[in-house]
Amino acid sequence: MPNIQIQPVSYALGARVTNIDLSKPVSSSDLKMIQDAWTQHVVLIFPDQKLDPKLLIEFTQNFGELDNYATQPFNRHPEHDEVMLLSNKPVQGKIHPGANNGQNWHTDLSYTIRPAKATMVYCIEKPSVGGDTMFANMYAVYEALSPKMREFLDGLEGINDVGLVSTRRDPAILEAFKRMNPPVIHPAVRTHPVSGRRALYVNERVRSFAGMTEAESKPLIRFLCDFSVQPRFVYRHQWSVGDLVVWDNRCAIHLAVGDYNPAEYRHMIRTSTMGDYIGKYEDPHIKPPMTMDHLSHEGQVGVSLLHD
Ligand code: SIN
Repeated sequence: MPNIQIQPVSYALGARVTNIDLSKPVSSSDLKMIQDAWTQHVVLIFPDQKLDPKLLIEFTQNFGELDNYATQPFNRHPEHDEVMLLSNKPVQGKIHPGANNGQNWHTDLSYTIRPAKATMVYCIEKPSVGGDTMFANMYAVYEALSPKMREFLDGLEGINDVGLVSTRRDPAILEAFKRMNPPVIHPAVRTHPVSGRRALYVNERVRSFAGMTEAESKPLIRFLCDFSVQPRFVYRHQWSVGDLVVWDNRCAIHLAVGDYNPAEYRHMIRTSTMGDYIGKYEDPHIKPPMTMDHLSHEGQVGVSLLHD
């Protein structure tokens, strides 16, 4: 096979990586090229891949420690804890809770003290039109703000609230999700450990800034959210079956566009790797980790939620 090719897909972020078969072990030189391209382009698209959950898990491990989705067990693939189902295809006759995930601008697991590093989504089935995923480059966003605004944001911390995940969810699941993931404080601006660049870390799941009231915080959060998703910062990915898309949650936000015919299937599998511990609970008395196991032992959530 000829060498890997890397082709940008937009000025803002994103590159297509071709001439590589991810169902086979990736050589260290290819992996280095992929990781360098990831640092540079933030989002990578690998078209025409033939993956299953196990192969996806294997490739993901090149990007760090696998997340087993203990913070959201209801989204798990029925056979693989480390794989999330993003699918409106019924599982055992029921719509899976992951059917409508991610339909507001966010970065993965920012409602935990250890938010995600890489996320990978593999497209198995797609609707005839719609169901795209959009990404925004949060380095470019931060760099485009005025020096005074950057200085102000550098001193802020955002309170990230799982209650602000996209709205189309079963209320019982959302309640369990909130109990397992109490509000978490993260810096409003992060320095990427590899690129050394600073990126805005505020999105639609930030409720307020620590030390500020909601009334003071909300207009600034709204401004930053609107500013971040201007077309100049965004790449919109139109999926093809066989695409694997990998993004860096430390410097990008994304949104699943829920604009497709619900009678058609959008069926994807997702993995993530664990990032650094950058957060702390808003309530300092909370001791990590809060898991579904803790809550079900305390009788706070029905065990049936695990299997819904
Ligand atoms: C997500 O991981 O937030 C969902 C991405 C998607 O389904 O496009």
